[in-house]
Amino acid sequence: MVGHIRITPTVGATFVPIGPVEIPLTRLRNGRKIPHIVRILEVGAIQTSLIVDGADTSRRAIGVAACHVSVEEDDMNTTERVSTYDSQSPAYHRAFEVFLAHTDQKAKTRDWLRGLVHGLPSRQVFVDAGAGNGKVTAWFLTDFQRTIAIEPNPSLCDELRRTCPTAEVHPQKILEAQLSVLADLVLCSHVLYYIDAADWMTHLETLVSWLAPEGVLVVVVQNHDTDCMRMLGHFFGHRFHLSELASRFEALRGRHYRVEIATVPAQVATADFDSAFTVAEFMLNLLPMPHPPPRGILEEYVRKHFASSAGDFRFSCNQDFLTIRPRL
Ligand SMILES: C[S@@+](CC[C@H](N)C(=O)[O-])C[C@H]1O[C@@H](n2cnc3c(N)ncnc32)[C@H](O)[C@@H]1O
Repeated sequence: MVGHIRITPTVGATFVPIGPVEIPLTRLRNGRKIPHIVRILEVGAIQTSLIVDGADTSRRAIGVAACHVSVEEDDMNTTERVSTYDSQSPAYHRAFEVFLAHTDQKAKTRDWLRGLVHGLPSRQVFVDAGAGNGKVTAWFLTDFQRTIAIEPNPSLCDELRRTCPTAEVHPQKILEAQLSVLADLVLCSHVLYYIDAADWMTHLETLVSWLAPEGVLVVVVQNHDTDCMRMLGHFFGHRFHLSELASRFEALRGRHYRVEIATVPAQVATADFDSAFTVAEFMLNLLPMPHPPPRGILEEYVRKHFASSAGDFRFSCNQDFLTIRPRL
């Protein structure tokens, strides 16, 4: 084994089941085709080990991959990779700050939510589930008599307490939280990425169970058709679809709840490349990355897709707002 090859699936690629397959390496620099093992680790993440000399013939590649691929030579040991971090780490907190400093997404959230909050028949209790640093929570603190902020990341919790001194902070995950009151507004903004899709419905049911009879749940997730989600699709073959969750919930509980979804435009804009890269990396970290792509490949992607003719960087991060209200 002399090295590794990173295979980036092209848009619209279809994938073979997990197992060893042969992919013709037509785009290798020297034009040679070399037998190799391809392991399909998950949809969109394919990694292959190059075998010369037939050192391990039993593992020789067989079959043909039913996907279009581009191939880049890449040494796993020396290539610098995209940083990985989870939503409970200080690294996540730092990257989140760079994102917040370069997007109008939160200002758009504020405008949209303000209309909804002022139309509520009662404003006694506000629950912000996954409140982060409290930036969004703080905007509505004085609109409600009582605010409960649920946030499991300890470093974000510290900032949340400073930003929202009158909020009751629960340093927990959503499924761990025990609330003794019902809420007029439950907000869950940009949290579902960090929760396994198989558990989305359980989370939705929990959030809905906290609603007062005339309350409203608002769940916010980035729309599936943004520049950021296209990037996730490019690297991992995955995007988030809040509208699918909304349809499933409506099919199950539509007799008892009114379900609506609205999409609001937003973008990231940075004058410098480093900030654009940090935000792109932050977006890739919306998903677990067991096999992070080389840093150079992401740099190339950011320059190619996000650079404007004026020399700055712009990419969309439009948001879907799902609202769920008990039918009276
Ligand atoms: C992108 S931030 C969003 C913060 C804020 N809601 C906003 O819209 O700006 C995602 C937050 O979700 C939190 N989080 C991740 N998993 C969670 C869970 N299971 N329950 C509650 N919060 C969670 C993270 O700690 C992080 O603060």
